[in-house]
Amino acid sequence: MAIVAPSILSADFSALRSQVQMVENAGSQYIHIDVMDGHFVPNLTLGPCVVESLRPHSKAVFDVHLMIENPEKYIESFVKSGADIITVHYETAKDMNALIKQIKSFGVRVGITINPPTPVDVLLPYIDDVDMVLIMTVNPGFGGQSLIEECLDKIRFLRQKYPKLDIEIDGGVKLENIDKVIDAGANIIVAGSAVFNAKDPEMVVKTIKAK
Ligand code: DX5
Ligand code: ZN
Repeated sequence: MAIVAPSILSADFSALRSQVQMVENAGSQYIHIDVMDGHFVPNLTLGPCVVESLRPHSKAVFDVHLMIENPEKYIESFVKSGADIITVHYETAKDMNALIKQIKSFGVRVGITINPPTPVDVLLPYIDDVDMVLIMTVNPGFGGQSLIEECLDKIRFLRQKYPKLDIEIDGGVKLENIDKVIDAGANIIVAGSAVFNAKDPEMVVKTIKAK
């Protein structure tokens, strides 16, 4: 059974609360929250106040993906707003060990992630210190892009090396490629447009979860 993490980036932002509750009622264990700053990625999304507003209305794990420069400045705000997992990009970390330590000091889970051009090896020194690795399968910034197949090799490599590691995949996952994604070894599946743009989002959540 997979963990499903619908990305609210593709949700109807005018109805975020009901959109979150809809995917949670369908069985999603996580809610993936994409935070973008217009610097590290060419788009702006949301900040801690949105997370805080949603928190009382959901029991799901809030999986916060920080696509921002200077992430260390915002960790505490996202913890206070209700994040359960905070994932930071290797590319944005000035001192990855310090950043991991900082996130852990608040008692939340920590994830680390890399963009498609970044080799997977850079993550290896940190694997024992983190709760999750996120492999980006699109260049971050927007929902609805196509999965970059070569990035699945990073997941295969990690799964073979670390049979018990939580490996999340983010970008371009659809019902048409979910079997490939699971075969590669991902166990936490982010799906944005595949869920929220579907005619039947609940069916999509249930299908992914059953994998
Ligand atoms: C991309 C974000 C993703 C995105 C996924 O920068 O990190 O979480 O919302 O959307 P889909 O599943 O549509 O590729
Ligand atoms: Zn994301």
